[in-house]
Amino acid sequence: MGKVRIIPVSVKLSGDIFCPPDKSFSHRAAMIGALSSGETIIQNFSFCQDTWSTLHCLELLGVKVQALPNQGMVRISSSGKESLSEPSDVLDVGNSGTTLRLITGIIAGIQGLSILTGDQSIRRRPMKRIIDPLRKTGAVIGGRDRDQYAPLYIIGKKPLQAFHHTLEIPSAQVKSCLLFAALWGDNPSFIKEPILSRNHTENMLQAVGGDIRKQNEVIQVYPGKEFVARPFHLPGDISSAAFLIAVTLLISGSHLIIRNLGLNPTRTGMLDCLQKTGAKINPFDVREEWGERQGHIAIEHSVLNSFEIGQEEIPSLIDEIPILSVLATQAHGRSIIRGAGELRVKESDRLHAISKNLIDLGAQIDETEDGLIISGPVRLKGGKVKSYGDHRIAMSMVIAGLIADAPVEIEDIECISISYPNFFQDLQKIGYGGFQFLTDTSFNNAYNREEA
Ligand code: S3P
Repeated sequence: MGKVRIIPVSVKLSGDIFCPPDKSFSHRAAMIGALSSGETIIQNFSFCQDTWSTLHCLELLGVKVQALPNQGMVRISSSGKESLSEPSDVLDVGNSGTTLRLITGIIAGIQGLSILTGDQSIRRRPMKRIIDPLRKTGAVIGGRDRDQYAPLYIIGKKPLQAFHHTLEIPSAQVKSCLLFAALWGDNPSFIKEPILSRNHTENMLQAVGGDIRKQNEVIQVYPGKEFVARPFHLPGDISSAAFLIAVTLLISGSHLIIRNLGLNPTRTGMLDCLQKTGAKINPFDVREEWGERQGHIAIEHSVLNSFEIGQEEIPSLIDEIPILSVLATQAHGRSIIRGAGELRVKESDRLHAISKNLIDLGAQIDETEDGLIISGPVRLKGGKVKSYGDHRIAMSMVIAGLIADAPVEIEDIECISISYPNFFQDLQKIGYGGFQFLTDTSFNNAYNREEA
């Protein structure tokens, strides 16, 4: 259990850095590479625990994976979706909900038996949301405790029956699972999404030749297309950049440029919300590639006002709520987050984890059933907090520690590697080195290796 002490920052932060690569795109690029004929070269791949899980699972389906972490590159070689085969072992997704939910849609169309499991946190996360709609395809699928949880079993079928489904929860993971399953359909399938969530799967499938159309709220998937491998250069991850953006906004005199950031509007809810409250965040050199907007952003320290976030905006900033909560403790007024009940079934119960930790540091927060009410600005004091084994809680607490009046100790920080293994290196790059690893962790081992 790695522990870190965060000493409050005493200097301005600044820099010009590349955004860490995007995890959501990396999962999808690898999976779509597996469905395409030829060699898919993925550049700027996010090498983190979650995406390693995806690569290992794809290998078990018969795909050749060559990972080159030093070059940020992965090569996926496949003979197309018909060549994928029954896995010879249990598919272990580790901590990755995206791997589990997305790959299940692919596996539904592979004849034979697949068993999927993961770590303790994954085995507590709701799976009925994919099991119920996938049953409409004729695949045999079920899970532990009356289909609620992993381990899951699937007996795939070919072809799958086409289906109509309305998403009850605005979840890109559920939507993507169904998009993949629809590719194996005997006819077109229709997926209705009343509230928009990230649309990377749709964009990437179109980029390899998929016939995916959208009319109003309905996504139409026309199966039967052969996908041809193409190279992908992936944008940076706004969900990781969020921590660097937050710390720059919070620390007086700071300014930062973050380059190559994914700016798809289904992901930029945090930027939109903060810009409305007076945050100085300016995108520049914005361009679009395979339907995905990307560019650089310049951020400057800003005095923040409170904000309100409602249900419709949640999917566009779902992973940023913990760090937005830290920002809200420093914003002037009462910030209100509603319609965020989904956060209770993420890697941890994020509404509880973030409010408990911030309250322990002196914040004023009311936790509601589906949100938070946060009053600010409040000076945070030092103390001891826990990550709850959740990478985004751990990194949010590091940022809280930087602005606190006294050191903050955070337990169980190894989980940061789940999405952002270079987090501490990037903090150093922008001028903050006041972290002390109190126990042996994969992070100080990484530092020792670099120094050697
Ligand atoms: C993700 C979608 C979101 C997000 C997760 C990654 C994805 O989950 O929280 O970290 O890559 O599709 P939901 O779509 O289930 O809300």
